[in-house]
Amino acid sequence: MLSSPEVMRRTGGLPVKSIVFDERTIDARVQELARDITAAYPDGDLLVLGLLKGSFIFLSDLVRAIERPIQVDFLVASSYGDRKFSSGTVRLVYDPETRLEGKHILLVEDIIDTGKTLQRLMVLLGARRPRSLAICALLDKQLAEPRPELRFVGFRAPPAFLVGYGLDHAENFRHLPFIADLE
Ligand code: IMP
Ligand code: MG
Repeated sequence: MLSSPEVMRRTGGLPVKSIVFDERTIDARVQELARDITAAYPDGDLLVLGLLKGSFIFLSDLVRAIERPIQVDFLVASSYGDRKFSSGTVRLVYDPETRLEGKHILLVEDIIDTGKTLQRLMVLLGARRPRSLAICALLDKQLAEPRPELRFVGFRAPPAFLVGYGLDHAENFRHLPFIADLE
């Protein structure tokens, strides 16, 4: 399966170690998350903010399954500052044009590893006085310290380097329809 022609055509001949979450498993979980999200926001304006680039496939599947009015926008965050010091400072390279004040904000992330990026983003977004601010992550490696409060989580992820379904290694493998362990 992992060295099947379909996989090989997509990876350029590089075999992946194992498929951690296949297409059907991902789809079923995304539908459940969308149902939970629909139920969790009975009223008010809901703005779904996808953190680029990793969330792009997850976000597109998720928003199409949410059965309430929503707005969709994106965030592009980048670490900056003196590279010698891993300050954890985050700058918005693309700042959503949509107003955040008074709205429910759901930040959609692909995977939580150290959780540092997210931690900074939450402070930054919280300052814009949203009605509520919550995180939906497809994958959680459960390594982040302190643990971020994740309101919606797709899967617990193994402590491996995962690719596919939006997740990349040097911009490769984002297009794989499944999530695989690269090593
Ligand atoms: P954090 O700030 O350490 O939580 O970093 C999270 C970001 O690192 C994610 O949004 C991903 O872009 C990237 N990342 C973390 N783990 C993986 C992985 O296993 N595969 C691909 N990208 C990852
Ligand atoms: Mg990445």
